[in-house]
Amino acid sequence: MSVNKIIKRVTTSIIKDMKLRGEKISMLTGYDYSMAKALDEAGIDIILVGDSAANVFAGYETTLPITLDNMIYHTSAVVRGSKRAMVLADLPFGEYQGSVDKAYEAAVRMMKESGAHALKLEGGEEIIDNIKKIINAGIPVCGHLGLTPQSINKFGDFGVRAKEEAEANRLKTDALALQEAGCFAIVLEKIPAQLAEEVSKSLAIPTIGIGAGNGCDGQVLVVNDMLGMTKGFKPKFLRQYANLYEQITTAASQYIADVKASDYPNENEQY
Ligand code: KIV
Repeated sequence: MSVNKIIKRVTTSIIKDMKLRGEKISMLTGYDYSMAKALDEAGIDIILVGDSAANVFAGYETTLPITLDNMIYHTSAVVRGSKRAMVLADLPFGEYQGSVDKAYEAAVRMMKESGAHALKLEGGEEIIDNIKKIINAGIPVCGHLGLTPQSINKFGDFGVRAKEEAEANRLKTDALALQEAGCFAIVLEKIPAQLAEEVSKSLAIPTIGIGAGNGCDGQVLVVNDMLGMTKGFKPKFLRQYANLYEQITTAASQYIADVKASDYPNENEQY
């Protein structure tokens, strides 16, 4: 095989090495084959098949309803669409917070049936035994602390977490516990920038922030949000790089007008 044909996947050791070298890690969510192809070609380091698919793909208010089967479907499409990026998949609500065995079985199913390269689980010390069992089976795990959307009913809203000392201290303890358990990275969502920077500096493994400031070792955004497809959703941390919602409605309006006017298809667009 020619050297050019060997395409190197981003691995957990590459991700950890990026922190050592001070290279920031780029991560975006992706839920389907076509988007994965485009993100991969752009050079994204990690595609997160987030359970935010429940929101942006399926229209649910929270991430709770999405199933393991749904996540396997989305993840396998992203794996087929990508060549270089690591594909990191969320384990959905209810699949890993209970018994160690159930968590392990869900993790193995996700790995076998979707082809994901690593899994993300929300939570700290309360699920540490479940995380250890999954990691011991050879499955890389990324933690997720701060605003953990699967616990939205406990929090009551999507506001900034760990503003108070007690919750900030708990988050620091959880981050160390996740590192100790063998996680290769931790997502920090919607926490004060100063706390995120402190946690990032205290850890050997990288942190990937969303709404957690510039002191994290990498950044993640929901791709539909950064492309401007989720109309009306504009939290402070979100930088919008395109306005696809407007482009799609403009293009669709033009198509509708062309069809109604018998302008589409023209002579060159038929057989
Ligand atoms: O599901 C998701 O998209 C996530 C990101 C917000 C980190 O977990």
